[in-house]
Amino acid sequence: MSRADLSPPSDLRGNTIVVIDDSHAVRTAFEVLLALHGARVLSADGPAAGLGLLAEHGAQLVIQDMNFRREATSGAEGIALFREIRARHPQLPIILLTAWTHLESAVELVRDGAADYIAKPWDDTRLMTTVRNLLELGRARAEAAALRADARAARAALATRFDLRGIVYESEAMHTVVAMATQVAHAEVPVLITGPNGAGKEVLADIVQANSPRADGPYFKVNLGALPPELMESELFGTEAGAFTGARTRSGRFEAADRGTLFLDELGTLSAASQAKLLRVLQTGEFERLGSNETRRSRVRVIAATNAPLREAMRAGAFREDLYYRLNVIELEVPPLSARRADILPLARHFLGADFELRPDAEAALLRYPWPGNVRELQNAVRRACLLSSDRAIGAAALALPASRPVSEGEPEPDRATLEQALARAHGVVAQAARELGLSRQALYRRMERLGLKSEAPRPSGSE
Ligand SMILES: Nc1ncnc2c1ncn2[C@@H]1O[C@H](COP(=O)(O)OP(=O)(O)OP(=O)(O)O)[C@@H](O)[C@H]1O
Ligand SMILES: [Mg+2]
Repeated sequence: MSRADLSPPSDLRGNTIVVIDDSHAVRTAFEVLLALHGARVLSADGPAAGLGLLAEHGAQLVIQDMNFRREATSGAEGIALFREIRARHPQLPIILLTAWTHLESAVELVRDGAADYIAKPWDDTRLMTTVRNLLELGRARAEAAALRADARAARAALATRFDLRGIVYESEAMHTVVAMATQVAHAEVPVLITGPNGAGKEVLADIVQANSPRADGPYFKVNLGALPPELMESELFGTEAGAFTGARTRSGRFEAADRGTLFLDELGTLSAASQAKLLRVLQTGEFERLGSNETRRSRVRVIAATNAPLREAMRAGAFREDLYYRLNVIELEVPPLSARRADILPLARHFLGADFELRPDAEAALLRYPWPGNVRELQNAVRRACLLSSDRAIGAAALALPASRPVSEGEPEPDRATLEQALARAHGVVAQAARELGLSRQALYRRMERLGLKSEAPRPSGSE
């Protein structure tokens, strides 16, 4: 054993490692080496005994041989054991001990991750590195699985009490916003929903409406951005015949939504005149149809959405301050998809439906892409791939995503779960997780440090 391996002598403390090998000498060698590092080592001389140990004691790592009888050399027993362990303990990392002659089948087995192989005779230094990496990976995987389970449980608990309108998410960031939407739903105050294009603002508005006391009342949606100013006013407040050339008498959305809810999308485009009228109806419930002096009343709850930075518009004098403060009594901020990567695959699977599935290369491509168009862009990409694919397994090529640019430091922070899941997928290899997240290695290390996330891999000291 080299000096470097002696460093922290108890670095494997708290870990149980099961060794399955028919050779007494090999078992003893592992028992001595791993116990020296503080691990609890349990050994078995064949598959049945090994599976028994796992069932009885559990373990953080398995080291297994490929052949368990002197006359056997095919490796078939080892492959069968590997598959059996995988089936019974899907998260458990496995190291295969293999002769050079069987490297190919070992490589094939470990391709899907959470496993590695060591050629016999092995080098202790390399073995210890592999052991540490796989233990770290197992820990990260178990934690990510627990987090996902937590997120699902939290979402499920919310879904039993509220109508979540089929919204899909697994990220903590989204859970916070959705939980808040259900909490503010019962109040009669206006809600302002902000967030970038296609992030799900309308879905959130639907959740607020569906869980409010007005759930059974009228619910209308007006896209202010799609209307020229003259039509906008008549759409919102109605018109009296003769108000302008060709005008017919009609009621507006404020009348139609009386005792209900009005969703005003793209609020940032509202004209100055309409802003004044909107402020008045919010303050007093009063308004007039275009071309009429008759004051009408409406008790509408307004939910407004915008992807424009209203504060800036306000400072520039393009948006009324008094209206802004009346509307944003409660503000729900929908994070961009790039800041909640834990939602990407669940959303993609949701849009794929039951007839299609994602190949691993497609999953990696989806996770790597920065999604400037957010959920809507993801939805379009997935639907297009389904239409064009002749195969039920969608690959990266079928998604045809534009070449991704790296996410710059100024962009929204990925949350803790996102980092942990990326690390788990990258088997604890920070460089790989960083690539997937579109961060530099140093940038990822800084975030891991801040969040207290660990990686056993040695920290890079010099250049990237
Ligand atoms: N979390 C989600 N779960 C399921 N579907 C979602 C989710 N978020 C968004 N979608 C879907 O993605 C599309 C875009 O969402 P939505 O229209 O709510 O975004 P938006 O923020 O209002 O976008 P825009 O700014 O362009 O108006 C819709 O088809 C919506 O159903
Ligand atoms: Mg919208």
